[in-house]
Amino acid sequence: MTEFQINPSIFQNHTSGYNTPLKNTSQKDKDCKMDKKKITLPYLFEKKARGVPITMLTAYDYPGAKLVDEAEIDMILVGDSLGMVVLGYESTVFVTMEDMLHHCKAVRRGTKNAFLVGDMPFLSYQADVRDAVYNAGRFLKEAGMDAVKLEGGKERVQVIRAISEAGIPVVGHLGLTPQSVTKLGGYRVQGKTARAAHLLLENALAIEEAGCSFLVFEMVPARIAEYISKKLTIPTIGIGAGNGCDGQVLVYHDMLGINIEFKPKFLKQFGSLGKDAEKALKKYRKAVETRSYPSVEHSFLMEDKEFAEFLAMQDEK
Ligand code: KIV
Repeated sequence: MTEFQINPSIFQNHTSGYNTPLKNTSQKDKDCKMDKKKITLPYLFEKKARGVPITMLTAYDYPGAKLVDEAEIDMILVGDSLGMVVLGYESTVFVTMEDMLHHCKAVRRGTKNAFLVGDMPFLSYQADVRDAVYNAGRFLKEAGMDAVKLEGGKERVQVIRAISEAGIPVVGHLGLTPQSVTKLGGYRVQGKTARAAHLLLENALAIEEAGCSFLVFEMVPARIAEYISKKLTIPTIGIGAGNGCDGQVLVYHDMLGINIEFKPKFLKQFGSLGKDAEKALKKYRKAVETRSYPSVEHSFLMEDKEFAEFLAMQDEK
């Protein structure tokens, strides 16, 4: 077990760390009202141990991170979904290290408490273990992230072990792994057959053993995600993986309804910002076109005397 794979049982009487630990498992504990300070790994492990769901959302910029952090979400993922929801690419494979670091830095500036995870982009960890450790380190050293996330199972064991041994917490990602979407044949549910589900379990156990501190399950049958979550010591975070994971994550733009058209089965839109923005933008256009904006209340005034003097100055010329 590595430094970051902490056995939750050690938190039964844990009294150190930034967050005040819970003393017993009453209903009050389940509400998990701890001091609101920087979220730490031990705090998140304690949540799994006590069956209290972990909350996670993506963010990509300063205002988004500020809103998510102020909503007291435990973890912020600066996902490489950045490429699709912010940069307008067709898939995540076009995202670069420089794109990620630029946005991670903005999220860092907007965050006080949430545990920050930077998503390692395509080709930043697949080709070479040394490059992978170096790139993972940049997320912490240059962008102030607390952990990195990368996709894949057994084939990533060596890389995960090396990054974790460098002292960097790693979040694994199994099921639908968007960086391999072409190989997977599209954005579709993974692990639906007994054979595929068994492979998912083997991959999950392998990357936990290699040093992962968390595991994201994307688009996996609910009963399989729940079964594997119970087999693992580390917390699992689901997206399209049912209610049996130790926590949930959604993409900021999707859950706020900014991407009006994007409605996969697993997504609940908790807001309709896209529609609200559309209405507001049209109202603005109309107000400008009809000169009803800006009105006097939005304008800076000048004393009559000063204006008259100004006009007189023009006449003198
Ligand atoms: O990039 C991302 O936003 C993700 C989440 C969907 C888990 O990987």
